[in-house]
Amino acid sequence: SHVLVLAGGLSYEREVSLRSGRRVSEVLRAAGMDVETRDTDSALVPSVLADPPDAVFVTLHGGAGEDGAIRSVLELLGVPYVGAGPDACRVAFDKPTAKAVIRSVGLRTPDSVTLPKETFHDLGASAVLARIVDRLGLPLFVKPARGGSALGASLVRTAEELPAAMVGCFAYGDTALIEKYVEGVEVAVSVVDLGDGPVALPPVEIVPDKGVYDYAARYTAGHTEFFAPARLSKESAAACTEMAVTAHTALGLRDISRTDLIVDTDGRPHFLEVNVAPGMTETSLLPMAVEASGRDLGTLCRTLLELAAA
Ligand code: DAL
Ligand code: MG
Repeated sequence: SHVLVLAGGLSYEREVSLRSGRRVSEVLRAAGMDVETRDTDSALVPSVLADPPDAVFVTLHGGAGEDGAIRSVLELLGVPYVGAGPDACRVAFDKPTAKAVIRSVGLRTPDSVTLPKETFHDLGASAVLARIVDRLGLPLFVKPARGGSALGASLVRTAEELPAAMVGCFAYGDTALIEKYVEGVEVAVSVVDLGDGPVALPPVEIVPDKGVYDYAARYTAGHTEFFAPARLSKESAAACTEMAVTAHTALGLRDISRTDLIVDTDGRPHFLEVNVAPGMTETSLLPMAVEASGRDLGTLCRTLLELAAA
């Protein structure tokens, strides 16, 4: 009897995923579990069929790991896994779709425009971009509609910076999400369900040393200062945890998720996105929140696997 940790995959977040997978495997072994760690390739299905694990922990970020594809395969194989099912993942991983769901349940999320690459080119890029600046104002935040780890994402302070931001974004995905930038503090709220319904862990506040939480700031130790719990008023912290639990529920997620949001200067949270396979690296947010809650990461991951297998 063993559990399987899936890590790697073919997305731009492959390196991050390998780090997440290594960490989760280590803490699970320390918690007494027999762990197999493997990548996704053509050997995956035969190997799972030959020796089915009790349950799978998916630490695949971006692409197939979060868009529902791998989870569809796990369903097909009849193997239990930790985390949201394929349909919920498809919705949650697509940021514009997730934002629409969030708006429909009355939560705040920055105004935005979603623009597929083709439309952008066909209609004349500069006229479209000028209209977006008119509509949303400045600054803007541009990111791939389906991505992660801030890859292809950039803050746009002047209209002149927008074309380059779009090109950078389309390097990582076919559709751009252009959001009104909300000034404030970036906060992440992890949600776990240990059998009694979804519960928010302490909000984590993110203070990147160069002001921007980009890829380097995320995965280089010492480039970002974190406060867990976040330095928020009681009311503001409660609004953040409520937003994360509502997002988790409204999007039909299971077991584990992390909602990223901006707390504006009035202390109000604005939903940015939800992660169905949150980062589990040494500098990732969910493990910090687990620690701040006084829990042990290995025990928590073990419990999630045992609940999935039950
Ligand atoms: N997409 C990265 C792994 C995260 O959200 O933590
Ligand atoms: Mg993300």
